[in-house]
Amino acid sequence: MRTQIAAANWKMNLTLPQAEALLQQLIEAPIQLHEHQQVVLAVPAPYLHRMVQLLNGKPGFQVAAQNCYAQKSGAFTGETSVEMLVSIGVTHVVIGHSERREYFLESNQLLAQKVSIALEYGLTPIFCCGEPLAIREANTQNEWVAKQLQESLYHMSADQLKKVVIAYEPIWAIGTGKTASSEQAQDIHAFIRSQLSHQYGASLAAEIPVLYGGSVKASNAAELFHQTDVDGGLVGGASLQAVEFTAIIQALK
Ligand code: 13P
Repeated sequence: MRTQIAAANWKMNLTLPQAEALLQQLIEAPIQLHEHQQVVLAVPAPYLHRMVQLLNGKPGFQVAAQNCYAQKSGAFTGETSVEMLVSIGVTHVVIGHSERREYFLESNQLLAQKVSIALEYGLTPIFCCGEPLAIREANTQNEWVAKQLQESLYHMSADQLKKVVIAYEPIWAIGTGKTASSEQAQDIHAFIRSQLSHQYGASLAAEIPVLYGGSVKASNAAELFHQTDVDGGLVGGASLQAVEFTAIIQALK
């Protein structure tokens, strides 16, 4: 079975004491992960090392950065390299979140470089794609997402691509309380897999986890996650509450 992932994106929220308390609650929660299930916590950069320490290798739990820079090292004031992330025990990095694309003007081409450097250092990219509302209303979301995949991922070999996790996050569903219906999610996840299949072959496409993000909550997670091509979620607001996020983890297939 494909890896199923409940990923939290804490974004720019929580103080360190609040982050420690939330993590402690998750550590103590009655969560039974199966072999093919993972919890990935994308926490603010200043807390990455502390969260890795507190998790202390808890099976199935991993820590992700919310961003990284596209260069190995050097005079890039304020940026974080993938080598730094790996050196503190971070295993994943979110790349191309729509907020980074929108507020920090990250292009598909820059994201392609970030994906490459993450893989070069053994970090798993959680590559985000997804369309704005106007594109959904024009019913051209497939073309939009296909272009994002093509421009940021298809420079990679099959061996590289199979280490990537994809997160489909329709921008109109992020933080709006408006979730894609399970049918809309399944349709576009199946489309993403068909694109990967076309480019890399069906067996590789069948291995890639494709997560859904956008107003995932305890009350809708099970229905979304039970869709054939939905392999878990990337969760913003609801991941800031231990009880809510625990229920989302428990909704994994
Ligand atoms: P919300 O779950 O708050 O809609 O955020 C989704 C998201 O952007 C996760 O990366």
